[in-house]
Amino acid sequence: MTGTDINIAINFLKQGELVAIPTETVYGLAANAFDVNAVTKIYQVKNRPQFNPLIIHTDSIEKLKSWGLILPEKLLQLASKFSPGPLTYVIPKSDQIPDIVTAGTDAVALRIPNHPLTLELLSKLDFPLAAPSANPSGYVSPTNAMHVYEQLGNQIPYILDGGDCKVGVESTIISFMEEVPTILRFGGLSLESIEAVIGKVNTVYSSQLSVHGSQPKPIAPGMLSRHYATTHQLIFGDVEKNISLYNSKKVGVISFHKKYDAVLEQHQFILSENKSLDEAAQKLFSAMREIDKLDIDVIVAEKFPEEGLGRAINDRLRRASVLEGDEDIE
Ligand code: TXA
Ligand code: MG
Repeated sequence: MTGTDINIAINFLKQGELVAIPTETVYGLAANAFDVNAVTKIYQVKNRPQFNPLIIHTDSIEKLKSWGLILPEKLLQLASKFSPGPLTYVIPKSDQIPDIVTAGTDAVALRIPNHPLTLELLSKLDFPLAAPSANPSGYVSPTNAMHVYEQLGNQIPYILDGGDCKVGVESTIISFMEEVPTILRFGGLSLESIEAVIGKVNTVYSSQLSVHGSQPKPIAPGMLSRHYATTHQLIFGDVEKNISLYNSKKVGVISFHKKYDAVLEQHQFILSENKSLDEAAQKLFSAMREIDKLDIDVIVAEKFPEEGLGRAINDRLRRASVLEGDEDIE
């Protein structure tokens, strides 16, 4: 069932059931993080590998402290500017966080999402919600309730409909497990915004990776393999060249603002005619889902400028382009 009633959502969550929830980034598949049986259902419904930990979501810093978590100074500086918002913090876990949530590691990921319906829901709960993106493991994340319904509708009792996600790519993840804070995933909050508050941070991997080149080892599980993938093969990079390798009538294109004359108009998804990376990020996953439904042989996608949310867009397209069987062993 899909609806906008947070009381229904609360009842299901209290009974240990799963509920899809809207956030400003993507929809999450939520369970009571303190209920091991409920969290187990998340892994089952998503077909998610057991070694891939989950982010916990709540509505306040005070609640995080009440669950025994010790928040570093730089986290608090970031939180005062960007939480609620598209930023996830990784810190040492406390005993109160079940091992299944952190996949047995000693680190836990935390986020205060910025969506009015979900903030209200969270404010009425005395437990955090473990919530990965509400898609089958490996597929593109959902940015509206219909996306969730199409793939998981018959497996979960309730989808809380909060409209289209405003940011459209997952949260940026920053880890405080090392001496220098480290970005584990580019996402809805830009690197520039983070460094403006806490100074230089590390990033897990260079933004200059080749498309099918070997990727450095991920620090966190589930970070770098084939992911966010369309069913059709997606090729990332030089669009002109890649179009010429195929029958152009059977090519779909994802581009920033440019039109390609060789390709059928109805096969082209231009993400922002005004050249806004924020708008492009917001539309990216819907475009990937739509283009995947077309009768085409291949999807070719542009490389976006490596700045602002362009880093997150390129990261998602790059990972979607990793061929099956070519992924990292995690
Ligand atoms: O925007 C988002 O972050 C969305 C919404 C629903 O909040 N959630 C999301 O969750 O993208 P998920 O599970 O699809 O991606 C979370 C990523 C995974 O790659 C996971 O490996 C990493 O966060 N992660 C979770 N817990 C971690 C931990 N303790 N240490 C390192 N990485 C962690
Ligand atoms: Mg995900």
